[in-house]
Amino acid sequence: MLTKIAVLVSGGGTNLQALIDAQNSGIIKSGKIEVVIASNPDAYALKRAQKYGIAAKAADKKTCKTQDEFENQIIQILQEYDIDFIVLAGFMCILSENFTKQFRNRIINVHPSLIPSFCGKGYYGLKVHEAALNYGVKVTGATVHYVNEIPDGGEIILQKSVDVLEGDTPETLQKRVMEQAEWIILPKACEIVSSNIKKGK
Ligand code: GAR
Repeated sequence: MLTKIAVLVSGGGTNLQALIDAQNSGIIKSGKIEVVIASNPDAYALKRAQKYGIAAKAADKKTCKTQDEFENQIIQILQEYDIDFIVLAGFMCILSENFTKQFRNRIINVHPSLIPSFCGKGYYGLKVHEAALNYGVKVTGATVHYVNEIPDGGEIILQKSVDVLEGDTPETLQKRVMEQAEWIILPKACEIVSSNIKKGK
């Protein structure tokens, strides 16, 4: 039986697109994306899911009064689709320990730096690349890791380095890190974890 995957997103969803492409090309073969859940109902990622006939749902963080309420909305959707494995693909919200402990070793995240650099609370999206450029690193990259109660603190699954070039802006660096690292290692890590879960199913 295939591993049932949920992808959690907040924005544009280019990493979601990489996962869908990998599923269609057979790089992801032990699991199937059953549902995409956005923390923001306007996320373009939801449109990408719909285009491929994948269920697209929103758990609107802004309208939730508490973190519990937000996470309960997500959990309800996960239960509805009988999800085994959660992939955070540009999901800009921190999940509580109460949530992560229910899915130990069953949540992974892609982060746009070489952890332990430029990670943790406050480091997300373009801010990560701004910090890397301000520091003056010559090499950066991306990391896929398990998610636990420490933001960006779970065990590392895959990493890939990317050169910083002279004249880079946060935007040009973000694009290169996505193209040369994130869109490659996220689908690979997804298949590694998904096939391990499938074996244990
Ligand atoms: C990606 O660069 C992803 O690594 C990053 O946000 C971007 C989302 O792009 N995620 C984080 O910073 C999480 N801490 P996308 O919506 O096009 O995939």
